[in-house]
Amino acid sequence: MANGFLLPSETADEFHFRLAVGSCDRCSLVQLVDEVPAEMRYHGEYRYHASGSDGHRRHFADVATQFLEDELTERDPFLVEIGCNDGVMLSTIARAGVRHLGVDPATTVTRVAREKGVSVRNTFFDETSAAEIHEENGPADVVFGANTISHIGGIGSVLRGVRTLLSPDGVFVFEEPYLGTIVEGLAFDQIYDEHVLYFSVTSVQVMAELFGFDLVDARRTPLHGGQIRYTLARRGTRAVRSRVADLLAEEHARGLSRPDTLASFGQAVGRIRDDLRTLLGDLRAEGRTVVGYGAPGKCATVTNYCGIGTDLVPFVCDSTPAKQGRLVPGSHLPVRPPEAFADPFPDHALLFAWNHAEEIMRRERDFTRAGGRWITYVPEVRVS
Ligand code: TMP
Repeated sequence: MANGFLLPSETADEFHFRLAVGSCDRCSLVQLVDEVPAEMRYHGEYRYHASGSDGHRRHFADVATQFLEDELTERDPFLVEIGCNDGVMLSTIARAGVRHLGVDPATTVTRVAREKGVSVRNTFFDETSAAEIHEENGPADVVFGANTISHIGGIGSVLRGVRTLLSPDGVFVFEEPYLGTIVEGLAFDQIYDEHVLYFSVTSVQVMAELFGFDLVDARRTPLHGGQIRYTLARRGTRAVRSRVADLLAEEHARGLSRPDTLASFGQAVGRIRDDLRTLLGDLRAEGRTVVGYGAPGKCATVTNYCGIGTDLVPFVCDSTPAKQGRLVPGSHLPVRPPEAFADPFPDHALLFAWNHAEEIMRRERDFTRAGGRWITYVPEVRVS
């Protein structure tokens, strides 16, 4: 599991599962073939804080403001967020005095949301909890989720729940990683246990129709390298924005849902693995040292899929105290504090946290000045 950083004493009992992706012939949804039970992923130890960066805080304050202006204008409106995390979005709704409920099983992060005045129910969102919420609070004008809906394998139960909970003219809005971005950018390290579903506009439209909704809007958002925000409404209640047809046409032209496109993606990812292994093997043969930089969830996918062990990369440094002294799941590379990076500098740094490349390279300019080289591998293996 991508965030299952473990102590050296825990390796014997480590949980494993098969990380494999497939696509559905009927609805074209790309998804993990085997799912890690949700209770093992989201619980009282869950540590991801959505408010972790300025960019996220600004983005979700804007999302909340837009809901307040466009959707929550009638008397006593009600908004439900699936996976509210630390209240990064709902804190703005709470400050506006609007009725709301965050539904999230991860007590570690929702404690922070409550401190911000956010109302929370610590449970998974499904058709049962949705019916209870409806019973207690009445219908919701908006149901929202961000980087949550794609984490739920039981999506049918979620959509049935939304159907029960949503007011007749309400909207279900969710923004999630985009299959198009992953395939185009060869970002195969986005594939890990928490990301169960990989949405495209095509698959979301089929899904919406199956459960009695229309996909009325789909727009790109910049978060996490390029996502899509989808808006669903009960069938026939809202006009469909022209952006939906534009994105559907774009996906069709690219063949995004075609099995051969996905097979080519798989082959290209296989080439990245081969190139990276060859490079690391050559560097080892030349006696050069390589250290990993950053241990994000993505790092487990890369090291396990590419077979990178301590023989090729002796350790990874990461600024997160909770990861230090532990091992990367599966590949068991030790995680050390950032100070270990300069003690002494290695010849090469393998940049696992490539989404933070600019910030990290700025921080580590002494490494570059001393002749150190950075290795990146998305969308291709590069030494710079
Ligand atoms: P993220 O991609 O999920 O935000 O994870 C980035 C990881 O990289 C996280 O574990 C923190 C780590 N990191 C560093 O070690 N040094 C840095 O300068 C930055 C920006 C991140």
